[in-house]
Amino acid sequence: MTNKYLIGIDVSTTASKALAIDEQGSVVSTKSYPHDLSTPRPLWSEQDPENWWSATSSALRDVIKEIPAEEIVAIGLTGQMHGLTPLDAAGRPLRPAILWNDQRSGAQCEEITEKVGAKHLYQVIGSILLAGFTAPKIRWLKQNEPDVYAQLGHVLLPKDYIRYRLSGAYVADVADASGFGLMDLSKRTWSDEMLAAFDIPREWLPELCESPDICAYVSKEAAAVTGLKAGTPIVGGAGDQPAGGVGNGIVAQGQASLTIGTSGVAYAVSAQYTPEPDGRLHTFCGPMPDTWMHMGVMLSAAGGLRWLHETFAPEMSYNAINQQVESVPRGAQGLLFAPYLTGERNPHPDPYARGAFVGLTLRHALPHFFRAVMEGVAFGMRDQLELLRALGVNPQEAVISGGAAKSPVWRQITTDIMGIPLYTVNTSEGGAFGAAILAAVGAGLYPDVPTACTQMVRKVEVFEPDPAGVAEYEELYPSYQALYPALKETFAALHAFEA
Ligand code: XUL
Repeated sequence: MTNKYLIGIDVSTTASKALAIDEQGSVVSTKSYPHDLSTPRPLWSEQDPENWWSATSSALRDVIKEIPAEEIVAIGLTGQMHGLTPLDAAGRPLRPAILWNDQRSGAQCEEITEKVGAKHLYQVIGSILLAGFTAPKIRWLKQNEPDVYAQLGHVLLPKDYIRYRLSGAYVADVADASGFGLMDLSKRTWSDEMLAAFDIPREWLPELCESPDICAYVSKEAAAVTGLKAGTPIVGGAGDQPAGGVGNGIVAQGQASLTIGTSGVAYAVSAQYTPEPDGRLHTFCGPMPDTWMHMGVMLSAAGGLRWLHETFAPEMSYNAINQQVESVPRGAQGLLFAPYLTGERNPHPDPYARGAFVGLTLRHALPHFFRAVMEGVAFGMRDQLELLRALGVNPQEAVISGGAAKSPVWRQITTDIMGIPLYTVNTSEGGAFGAAILAAVGAGLYPDVPTACTQMVRKVEVFEPDPAGVAEYEELYPSYQALYPALKETFAALHAFEA
């Protein structure tokens, strides 16, 4: 009997990864190669698409040394969302890609929001229009790099550029394409109205497909470079957050996940399109047909702890940090941390938002700072959960993953601040694993994504909230919520001062 393997490719900001799983979801191989990131000007964030391709093809070649190419039945793609890869008519990159965390196109967002009307815009594209999204970047090119703009023939998201290099097809799945800010999300199609508002020709945009559907096949040229078999099917896949949702088994209404990595994301699936009326979180097409996803994003989460650690105590081990945090009572003796170290997205879309410690006294020392950062990040995640709750999504438990899930004390702080049980699942491969699950469905090994997840994703450990912790943090949460409104003007003034 021959084996059947699935490949998930993750084109993230930091690296390209290729992961192989078997039919039961056991990981058999995972290889990755790093990416370079360039920030040629303040607020800019760019990458060379050729770097994604060389990293991905190297990772694939390594995986194929371990499993036979003819036993790979399908490939799924995932990756960083929203990035603009501008190509000419022959599919050649015209300039470096402009990434999801690039903030240069604020003026274009304001212009289009005013033109379309804020409330109507939110209803169509499922969110406020953010500088991170793809469409404002295309408009920025028009207004700032007209020579590049004049040569545009195609625009692709990062993982879809890799699909193009693998197959020659210009295709995006609806879950990732939602992050362009150009779709009519209720209909799961490109929006003629938004295309007209941005003045973007339809021909530049990729064809759309559903995440588990086969939409392309590995070409002979790509087979020669990667070692894959020509003709291997490629499914739509999904952006890193929805693919991570699938990898965590979040595929039905009522389920939710909290991913606390560099950024922090609360994620849930819905069977109806119900965007938040003020666009305060993202409601995008989901990675299963006829589903949508809600996503609340905080830009700096575990990244905040990394900053504190690397800046003030680089010699300390994470074990020692955890011990210090345990030695400090809940609430860090009245020290609060506003976690907005890299601006914020939800619920305070503000590129000028900054971090702050509030409540310092002579009693406070480094352990209090560590505790306050863990608590501030967890309160930021609670804000995301409250956005979901305001939409009627009221999970009774949630998956926790990312750096915060690995520290027992941070996990308990987070569980108490959420006030619901949190649990881990059997995989920590996130988006790549979800992309491989989507490939398994596309290959016909499972009838649909929820059935595949029932077979491949399992609950491992459950963490219960401590009633005393829940009560104390409930008391403190309003003080945390008051930080941003109180500091907003100061943040803007500090930005103006620096400029
Ligand atoms: C989602 C988002 C990030 C990026 C990078 O909206 O911007 O998740 O996809 O990871």
